[in-house]
Amino acid sequence: MQETKVVLSERDLPKQWYNILPDMPSAPVPPIHPGTKKPIGPDDLAPIFPMNLIEQEVSPKNWIDIPEEVLNVYTLWRPTPLYRAYRLEKALNTPAKIYYKYEGVSPAGSHKPNTAVPQAYYNKVAGTKRIATETGAGQWGSAISMACKMFDLQCTVYMVRVSYNQKPYRRSMIETWGAEVHSSPSKVTQAGKKILEANPDSPGSLGIAISEAVEDAATHEDTKYSLGSVLNHVLLHQTVIGLELKKQFEKLGEKPDVLIACCGGGSNFGGFVFPFIKDKLNGSKIKFIAVEPAACPTLTKGEYKYDFGDTAQLTPLIKMYTLGHDFVPPGIHAGGLRYHGDSPLVSQLYHEGVIEAAAHKQNPVFAAAVLFAKSEGIIPAPESAHAIKSVVDEAVKCREAREQKVIAFNLSGHGNFDMAAYDSYLSEKLEDFEMPEEEIKSALARLPKVE
Ligand SMILES: Cc1ncc(COP(=O)(O)O)c(C=O)c1O
Repeated sequence: MQETKVVLSERDLPKQWYNILPDMPSAPVPPIHPGTKKPIGPDDLAPIFPMNLIEQEVSPKNWIDIPEEVLNVYTLWRPTPLYRAYRLEKALNTPAKIYYKYEGVSPAGSHKPNTAVPQAYYNKVAGTKRIATETGAGQWGSAISMACKMFDLQCTVYMVRVSYNQKPYRRSMIETWGAEVHSSPSKVTQAGKKILEANPDSPGSLGIAISEAVEDAATHEDTKYSLGSVLNHVLLHQTVIGLELKKQFEKLGEKPDVLIACCGGGSNFGGFVFPFIKDKLNGSKIKFIAVEPAACPTLTKGEYKYDFGDTAQLTPLIKMYTLGHDFVPPGIHAGGLRYHGDSPLVSQLYHEGVIEAAAHKQNPVFAAAVLFAKSEGIIPAPESAHAIKSVVDEAVKCREAREQKVIAFNLSGHGNFDMAAYDSYLSEKLEDFEMPEEEIKSALARLPKVE
């Protein structure tokens, strides 16, 4: 019998998260205040985040203890398995060894609970009563709804309108765990109302939904805002994935040559690769690929500039790759990848040449997803399928060059609630959006002037 999975015991669950901040090749630049253009301090963030998470956001410590209350919840699904994709290798006729870390085993079906649980925990400790947040694909909304229930917090989710309509069962899932859901742009906030006045048919975007959730938190004393990606503390929590992966490769006696993950705001990518970045900085030849949609090509076609994290310009200015804060990407099915910006840490690593990026159109992404489902059984989330498309490309290169590379990717979630997307693909109704250069240029021309 062949061994397909590397499974760690619960005792092997990492007890600390890895903070890449002190190991970055050059010192990260701070977020700045849009008015004064001066670096923001903890007090500027206090209306929307609890102080314990603000401290993590800027912590100079390499390792941060995972609280026992969080570990106890993590054991519901962690450690997650690492699979060898024997059947995909065979289907591709490649000498490459392909592995995938499967984060879809969490109750919400993705990697998002890895940070939802600690964020709910730290908010509870800080006395927060309610969390306001956005969701793109509905994966984050379900994760935070579940986490809030576990720590007895109320939760309000602004769900991007296209996903709200495309994925009614994700909404039901969020509601099952007890959160309240609004289709965004909504009439609940000033930011939402303003967008609806200008464009009643707006499909929404993560940038708009973030504006609504931030406004909700900033205008209610007992409410804090929570973000499912982009921020340093979110990527910190996600490093539990890469730390487990390292142990699993040690158990196999193998070293990965290529690590691949999809990239929306950068949290599953960061969590997957950050524990390996130091190896690369110390001379290892390992390659990292962040994969995004051609319809929202933040790293591959955006600019590395200071920009707002949201459409209504409520957040501090963050130095990141961006397509412009008012850029509304087409309504592709990978809702979790429709974000104009990217994590500042991932952006900096890309800018400094430590990581690479690729962008793919929807149809080839779904072709790779269906090939994967037919080979390995699991139906991937459309977001994760972007990573699979790059895995296929790398494996084909190995076939052509007759190289036996070790390729690992993060299967960030399952696609069991994304069957409408698969339906569109299978009935050949899926459109291949690629953002026109002109549209990107015009959105970038509206970036705030800083430098
Ligand atoms: C399954 C899945 N993968 C990936 C992402 C992209 O987010 P991030 O880049 O923060 O990992 C999302 C976002 O919703 C998601 O639901």
